[in-house]
Amino acid sequence: MTMNHYRIASIPGDGIGKEIMSQGVKVLNLLADVTQSYKIDWKEFPWGSEYYLSKGEMMPADGLKSLEDFDSIFFGAVGWPTVPDHITLWGLRLPICQGFQQYANVRPALLYPGIKSPLAGKKFRDIDFVVVRENTEGEYAGVGGRAQKGTNQEVAMETSVFTRKGVERVIRYAFELAEKRRKKVSNVTKSNAQQYGFVLWDEVFQAVSAEYTQVKTERVLVDAMAARFVLNPESLDVVVASNLHGDILTDLSGAIIGSLGMAPSGNINPERDFPSMFEPVHGSAPDIYGKGIANPIGMFLSGAMMLDFLGESEAGGMIYKAVRETTSHGILTPDVGGKAKTEEVTQSVIDTIKAL
Ligand code: NAI
Ligand code: MG
Repeated sequence: MTMNHYRIASIPGDGIGKEIMSQGVKVLNLLADVTQSYKIDWKEFPWGSEYYLSKGEMMPADGLKSLEDFDSIFFGAVGWPTVPDHITLWGLRLPICQGFQQYANVRPALLYPGIKSPLAGKKFRDIDFVVVRENTEGEYAGVGGRAQKGTNQEVAMETSVFTRKGVERVIRYAFELAEKRRKKVSNVTKSNAQQYGFVLWDEVFQAVSAEYTQVKTERVLVDAMAARFVLNPESLDVVVASNLHGDILTDLSGAIIGSLGMAPSGNINPERDFPSMFEPVHGSAPDIYGKGIANPIGMFLSGAMMLDFLGESEAGGMIYKAVRETTSHGILTPDVGGKAKTEEVTQSVIDTIKAL
């Protein structure tokens, strides 16, 4: 058997990003030993709010250049109360997603065994869908400005940008994904109120859907979809949405699977022209940082998505299995109703992998 070598950039970032990154690296290294299928050369980048406070920038000007030759990027979270959130986000995560054309932000929502959903009566797999969020343009295109700053006449404009190419490629990704799943795509927009960008989006959706005759489709306005996440998540398979809508809906999908701490994601450049980036959905959680109780499962599952993407699905599968074992045995951090520390959850995942 040949051993694959991967160079992976890790960016722990801020707050609990730092706590869970070390746990994720531990698990991915263990799987390398266990499967003997790959080896990872890690390089850690100390970028984030502390870096900003000492250097005046979230990452060096040539940051993307230093990342571009890696096979993948493993990311914790950024954001800290001492730095404005638009600086942390626009200084690090958004330039990576946009610069590397990671246009499909893939965010699975799966209810694990032993995890109590806030929705009554839901069991393992009752909630099992994926949100594909457009990740390079839309409401987060960064187009706009402020004039007459500080005066009574001040005006701020933030323009959503939808390009036919940008919309089509993410919708196509959603259909390709649905073909491998339960063959349904739900299209989310707000095209009743926003009559340009989202009407283009709907038209492109219609055109692309004609090529995937095996896949069922529906159109749902974003407000109605928010209610559907709560009332009938069983009806969902793949949900495709704009940058802002996908962002908001996936905190909700994180909540219904028990905790944001359970939710993984991949920022995918499907063409593999650039590295893709894998990270939990949640932020840096300053409210629990330093207590050793951050849920590391979103990070582990993001690692599994990364292994799948690299072609190491045997190792990826072992993570999913070890997480299922761990949650079904009730080894849970406080966010999902348990008393375990971060490291105890990691230890359970490690022990399970060793026993597989
Ligand atoms: P957050 O996701 O950090 O936290 C929201 C709530 O969920 C908090 O009560 C937190 O304790 C809890 N939580 C989140 N992840 C958890 C985990 N793994 N285990 C246990 N509990 C967990 O969102 P918030 O508070 O709105 O933002 C905090 C900072 O993170 C801000 O600076 C924000 O800009 C940034 N942020 C960064 C993101 C990223 O880097 N991708 C994403 C979202 C927010
Ligand atoms: Mg978010």
